[in-house]
Amino acid sequence: MINAKIIGTGAYVPEKVYDNAYMESIVDTNDEWITRRTGIKERHIAADDEYTTDLAIKAAQRAVENAGISAEELDLIILATVTPDYFTPACACIVQKVIGAVNAAAFDYNAACSAFVTGITIAKQFIVSGTYKNILVICADVLSKATDYKDRATCVLFGDAAGAAVVAASEEPGILTTDLGSDGDLSITCLAYKEDEEENAKRVSGEKNTIWMAGQAVMKFAVKAMADASNRVIEKAGLTWDDIDLVVPHQANYRIVDSAIKRMGVDKDKVYLTLHKYGNTSASCIPVALSEAEANGRIKKGDKIILVGFGGGLTWGAALLEW
Ligand code: UT7
Repeated sequence: MINAKIIGTGAYVPEKVYDNAYMESIVDTNDEWITRRTGIKERHIAADDEYTTDLAIKAAQRAVENAGISAEELDLIILATVTPDYFTPACACIVQKVIGAVNAAAFDYNAACSAFVTGITIAKQFIVSGTYKNILVICADVLSKATDYKDRATCVLFGDAAGAAVVAASEEPGILTTDLGSDGDLSITCLAYKEDEEENAKRVSGEKNTIWMAGQAVMKFAVKAMADASNRVIEKAGLTWDDIDLVVPHQANYRIVDSAIKRMGVDKDKVYLTLHKYGNTSASCIPVALSEAEANGRIKKGDKIILVGFGGGLTWGAALLEW
């Protein structure tokens, strides 16, 4: 039986920082509101000439190095983004060329903030079917370029980052179970080509290609979706919450995480958080946190880890890993 296992992780965040004092200087907000309602203190922001693939390449190179393989050994690169450099070529193809993954197929996919769990689920299928051995999953976004910096309800939330993982064929257990879902609606939107006056009117700036969100509705959805999906992956594996060593959730808002873990009955000490430093960086939140948790020695071999996310679509996903 071939298993799919994460054998290396990597992350990159840009240098520039917008702290809460800076947010106070551009919109009618304050550190107290942002901290109490979200838990976010800082977000890292790409330079004007720094794009999704620039972040993705750095995270990818770190993940490949951490996995102890060469880029030539990669069979497939899949990259999730909602802020691509180009509509075509795919960001994955640009990364493939730059890192020298000469034997890899490459494509982009979009599952918004749920995309890391989606990506490792896709990777697992190619591996357990015997199609590929080494797959690089990258989540990268420059949400700052799609943020409406006139809308205080969203601009305080987002930052830029990339996270990556190498999923490889292994005789050891790795990605034990996953659960993906969708409930399509327009709670989180960023318009592309479609002309939609109603959508445009929701944006404070009126700028079409910016993110708008029904915050309260998303928050309500997120708490239930995260708890239910996590329960399902544990149940599918025949385990209980007592077996779980660490939970790495999507880092959107501390209140969402807190309510979700209460619903799960998990102790706060078992939850890894980065949102105070980076804010919501879309799909990269989970691999960035996972990479950091590993580097900090927070994860040891054999640990059982829940990854759980939710986001635009609406979508959700959970995975149970044995490290
Ligand atoms: O990965 C994508 C998923 N997205 C998310 O996870 C976001 C989910 N939603 C949230 O995190 C929360 O809904 C927000 C943080 C966006 C907003 O928190 P909330 O507790 O839902 O606040 P609210 O929208 O109900 O707004 C409460 C008040 C309003 O003022 P009034 O109408 O009560 O006078 C807002 O205008 O807070 C006001 N407000 C702010 N005040 C200061 C909204 N944003 C701000 C702000 N600073 N930045």
